[in-house]
Amino acid sequence: MISVTVFLAGPASEGPTLWTFFGRFHPATVHFPIALVTLAGGLELWQVIRRKPGFAPATPVLSSLGLASSLLATLMGWANGSDRKHDDVMEAHRWAGVVTTGVALAATILVTAAPNRSGWIVHAGRASLFVGMLLVGVTGHWGGQLVHGKQYYSSGAPPWLSGFFPAEPLGGPGELPGEPGSPRASGKVDFEKEVAPILEANCLRCHSPLAKVEGKLRLDTRVMAMKGSENGKVLLEGNPAGSTLYSLLLETDAKDRMPAKAKPLPRAEIETIRRWIQEGASWPAGIVLKPPARK
Ligand code: HEC
Repeated sequence: MISVTVFLAGPASEGPTLWTFFGRFHPATVHFPIALVTLAGGLELWQVIRRKPGFAPATPVLSSLGLASSLLATLMGWANGSDRKHDDVMEAHRWAGVVTTGVALAATILVTAAPNRSGWIVHAGRASLFVGMLLVGVTGHWGGQLVHGKQYYSSGAPPWLSGFFPAEPLGGPGELPGEPGSPRASGKVDFEKEVAPILEANCLRCHSPLAKVEGKLRLDTRVMAMKGSENGKVLLEGNPAGSTLYSLLLETDAKDRMPAKAKPLPRAEIETIRRWIQEGASWPAGIVLKPPARK
């Protein structure tokens, strides 16, 4: 019994196992239930429009395959999350996956148990397939947010449209500065612990009031960093691609790349900066960055 619990919960802290490896195939399987359940539901919608009394001939097989792939994708998703940080989107996504599988099971029982019957079984079967269609969409949306960040749509939308996308669709403000241990902060990049050290070690030498460089940009406080340089803003919350503070790290021309006169930053650090900006570039007001002490 205990081993079953460990299997389902996943070993959180013991490093990679077969279970976490199994989980890495979640992205490869997850589109099958989305397509199959949507197809089964779409087919039944077509039956309703044409006023057909019973299920379409292909519905039982589509629904069964949808259920099987949904079960597999959910198990893999559970495994995939077992060695990762959990935030509210992750919780919403994984439980939506479980509910989707439950609804797919109900739909499959209804459409396969009595494929030729009409009446309430057909209504109930169709209703659960329609709910299933909705659920794969919602679950997939939260899964997309996990991969691409909450500002994915708004960062690519023109200004008149981006207002329709709330920056924090789930669970209110996603960051609680000064409480790094809080469950909401746990899934996000921690400015003080992860971003500040990168900027201090690589940028403050030149971008601080102490710097004796011609540069005007200051990255020592939030206010100065947000103000930007003489060329304008360098940091756009939620929009790494539009932020030169990020894009100049990737610049291939060494003449323009930041940090100037140094090797490019390691990929992992660049990715930390990208995620930090994507997540809204939070910078608690009290934190002032300093250049590293002279050796
Ligand atoms: C050796 C000095 C030096 C280092 C180290 C350095 N920079 Fe710069 N940076 C400059 C100079 C000089 C400029 C051009 C003048 C200005 O705007 O400050 C500049 C410009 C920039 C700009 C563009 C300002 C604009 O809009 O024109 C950004 C963004 C920037 N730096 C970010 C960074 C980041 C992030 C780091 C650390 C990863 C970094 N820099 C490290 C010297 C440096």
